[in-house]
Amino acid sequence: MTRFTVNNQPVEYRLDPATPLLAALRDASNLTGAKYGCGTGDCGACIVDVDGAALPACRVKIGAIEGSYVTTIEGLSRERNHPLQLAFLAAQVPQCGFCIPGMIMQASVLLRKNPHPGEAEIRQAITVLCRCGVYPRVVEAVARAARALRGEEVIPAGFRPGIDPADSARQVPALVPPRP
Ligand code: FES
Ligand code: FES
Repeated sequence: MTRFTVNNQPVEYRLDPATPLLAALRDASNLTGAKYGCGTGDCGACIVDVDGAALPACRVKIGAIEGSYVTTIEGLSRERNHPLQLAFLAAQVPQCGFCIPGMIMQASVLLRKNPHPGEAEIRQAITVLCRCGVYPRVVEAVARAARALRGEEVIPAGFRPGIDPADSARQVPALVPPRP
């Protein structure tokens, strides 16, 4: 039994302590924002915040983080309107979107530690690999989110990213009509 906190909710996993955090989050907690890319800690698609550090969840065993506080992209903002999410949308950063949760979690850790990051610091902190090559837009979006978090700019909210919990609870209509 492993206990820790995920997105401010206490969780208790009856899983092998060697289970990767990513598997526990995705398969047991249905938190599918963090993605499985390489499984070796290299791509960053699975990055989550563990006690204020941006860590690849595929390389963290749940038994090693007993009592920790984990935040995933789903827990970043209840209303899905964290300045980073708004800035990424405004700059049209997401293309396929696969790497974006990891990038945003890495950026949120950066901005908590450094509210005034320069371009070089942003480039150094955001190490997630993006096959769509959105890196220039990421720098722009993180800098804008930093200004918003400092109260120097308001980012207008467009549509909200992610899945609205109300939508996920709806019945999916059958694709094939029932036979008469
Ligand atoms: Fe974890 Fe690639 S899936 S770093
Ligand atoms: Fe496609 Fe980054 S937006 S991998």
